[in-house]
Amino acid sequence: MLDSPVIPVIVLDDTNQAVPLARALLAGGIRMLEVTLRTPQALACIEAIARGVPEVVVGAGTVRSAADAQACAMAGARFAVSPGYTHSVGQACRDAGLALLPGVATGSEIMAAQEDGLTELKFFPAMQAGGPAMLKAWNGPFGDVRFCPTGGVTVANAPEFLTLPNVLCVGGSWLTPADTLARGNWSHVTALAFQACRLARQAV
Ligand code: 3PG
Repeated sequence: MLDSPVIPVIVLDDTNQAVPLARALLAGGIRMLEVTLRTPQALACIEAIARGVPEVVVGAGTVRSAADAQACAMAGARFAVSPGYTHSVGQACRDAGLALLPGVATGSEIMAAQEDGLTELKFFPAMQAGGPAMLKAWNGPFGDVRFCPTGGVTVANAPEFLTLPNVLCVGGSWLTPADTLARGNWSHVTALAFQACRLARQAV
């Protein structure tokens, strides 16, 4: 989370796009990638990036079960991101040696994750669940927790999140728009990545 102020949330349905996309993001300064398990090709894309672009750290998103955690670890994912948290997903990630960024949206969910030793959490869906104001409120009772807000984060509101003391990075899909990927417009992806890195540097 400290390494990458913006983690792109990626949906890929064409394995051939995986390596050029990873290279395009890397060229713009982003080396931490989350490929979501939302398409049948997602695991193959993670594998292609892990083998073909070793300079980036590829993780799996939308990890919702122990089986997802095992499958993405086998594919070469180095971390897992989940939209919520269950003890079994946490245990499966520990068993597989995967760092886990679990999603939370309430105080009770934060406490459940903390009980299992997790103190870096994804705030999801960030804008819909309260945005920066929610994170400011949580910084009182949960001052020892650090967050990656994701969901509704854009190039316009990312700086506001990144200036909060309990935010280490943000996640978002805006760096990899579906139409840009479909056209193979890798220079546009690099430009979006570069812009995100520059904004993030200004905010912190
Ligand atoms: C996610 O898929 O984790 C988030 O929904 C990404 O949200 P965004 O598309 O609003 O950036």
